[in-house]
Amino acid sequence: MLRLDRYLSNATALTRSQAHKALRSGRVSVDGKIIKQGAFQIAQDAKVFLDGQPVVAPCSRYLMLHKPLGVVCAAEDTTHRTAIDLPNPQGLHFAGRLDLDVTGLVLISDDGQWSHRITSPSKQCSKTYLATLASAISESTLERIRKGILLRGERCPTAPAQAGRLDDTLVRLTITEGRYHQVKRLFAAVDNRVISLHRESIGELRLDADLAPGCYRALSVDEIDLFN
Ligand code: URA
Repeated sequence: MLRLDRYLSNATALTRSQAHKALRSGRVSVDGKIIKQGAFQIAQDAKVFLDGQPVVAPCSRYLMLHKPLGVVCAAEDTTHRTAIDLPNPQGLHFAGRLDLDVTGLVLISDDGQWSHRITSPSKQCSKTYLATLASAISESTLERIRKGILLRGERCPTAPAQAGRLDDTLVRLTITEGRYHQVKRLFAAVDNRVISLHRESIGELRLDADLAPGCYRALSVDEIDLFN
């Protein structure tokens, strides 16, 4: 099942708010009935019409990848192996990248609006990392990171973050921005250094524990809907 507003904005040139307007004006029918609610769930084989014309959804792809060490999140790279070798990569992009030396959850799609909700700073989609540090970190230092820190070369401090010490050198950190090398720079700003970094989750979506490094799988409809 799929939400009608998302189906419309995927399958037509309408944005989500234009799709809502079209729905409210009674321009959309599903299996012969006018439907006005964006949250209406449609079946895979539903016949959707907009202004009397059939709306056929392109088949979007949504994947989760367990990124291993030493590969880049790019479609092509002349120096390093790329994170994913897909049979049909046309139109696919990474919804947020990880550095070469960072492991964990990466999302890949050909649905630009969906990816935008994950990567756009204005959407504040959280990302949770496990960071192993070179030196022990104190609660008071972690508190500085929670409150926000001015990173070298930047004008605004980072947004408040959640951070928990799992042991002296292991921290679980949740941030809602995606500044360049943000996690490494946050710890560098408090005179520490990240020696390994792993992304556990994006928003409410956790990396599938059954997915070995280097493997990927399609997202379920419920997982896709976490970002709708
Ligand atoms: N922060 C980093 O420093 N690197 C990443 O890849 C992601 C977040």
